[in-house]
Amino acid sequence: MDVFRVVHLDELAENHAYRVVLEDQPILLTKISGEPHAVADTCPHNGASLSEGVIKDGCVTCPWHFWRFSLHDGERQGRPEVQIQVYGTRLTADNWVEIEVPPPAIERSLREVLLEHARQGREQTD
Ligand code: FES
Repeated sequence: MDVFRVVHLDELAENHAYRVVLEDQPILLTKISGEPHAVADTCPHNGASLSEGVIKDGCVTCPWHFWRFSLHDGERQGRPEVQIQVYGTRLTADNWVEIEVPPPAIERSLREVLLEHARQGREQTD
């Protein structure tokens, strides 16, 4: 897990969405009630940038088809089984916002995926 210092808290406006890219991961950063929040900036429906949406009542509304996601736990409102990734945030002693970013997922080739699937099938028949 890498931690990135991104901006001073005073530079963030309340309920405004900012897009940052860390470790090739697009992230929506915002401030709600004085606290920073960070979630994935890609809508799981069709891939819209959530940072172009509207933030209200602790949720972001996707600009394309209006799915709403909590900025606290990433859950889609009314469909909690659909989630966006939530990134850990923290403030330094002098109020700089830091975001915790896991390493990017390792891309696997189709061959590797098929081999793993075959191994799992073999284990189930043993
Ligand atoms: S792309 Fe976000 S709701 Fe459709």
